[in-house]
Amino acid sequence: MKTVNEILKLKGSDVFSVSPDTTVYDALRIMADKQIGALLVVDEGEVSGIMSERDYARKVILQGKLSKDTLVREIMSPRVLFVTKEQSTEDCMALMINKRIRHLPVFENERLAGLISIGDVVKAVIDEKEFTIDQLVNYITGKPNLKQ
Ligand SMILES: NC(=O)c1ccc[n+]([C@@H]2O[C@H](COP(=O)([O-])OP(=O)(O)OC[C@H]3O[C@@H](n4cnc5c(N)ncnc54)[C@H](O)[C@@H]3O)[C@@H](O)[C@H]2O)c1
Repeated sequence: MKTVNEILKLKGSDVFSVSPDTTVYDALRIMADKQIGALLVVDEGEVSGIMSERDYARKVILQGKLSKDTLVREIMSPRVLFVTKEQSTEDCMALMINKRIRHLPVFENERLAGLISIGDVVKAVIDEKEFTIDQLVNYITGKPNLKQ
């Protein structure tokens, strides 16, 4: 079973974040530039929320607000669920499904150590299953599986 630590070793530990006083427009610009769907909200070194494309869709567009006149603090989700590096991909998937979230910050010893998305978790699970299938093919046929 893969751990969060293994996902972070592949994708890196950088976390893109904004302050709560950033305008939603500027936050969206960062998300577009970095090709990401969420930003952690950090205020004086403390995580104070997370803002996703979904927050924008539901709390700005559908409310008839303007992104240049709205601050991240007005639409962010203040309750931030997180995982630790030792947790498994299954733990992350269960949390994401049960809580209907797509991004999880990673903490280690109370310090921010990365951020993973639902795509990262699905990729890790698929890689793991493919590895198991290859091992089984090798075992059954007695030959290494050279496809890939
Ligand atoms: N092939 C891959 O390795 C891979 C991995 C993840 C996502 N994806 C693809 O990207 C698309 C969208 O993915 P998603 O819905 O998981 O979310 P997403 O677009 O928010 O995430 C894309 C990548 O950016 C990273 N990311 C997102 N927000 C971040 C932040 N604030 N700080 C640091 N890193 C951040 C994620 O961890 C992920 O690796 C999907 O089409 C998915 O298949 C591909």
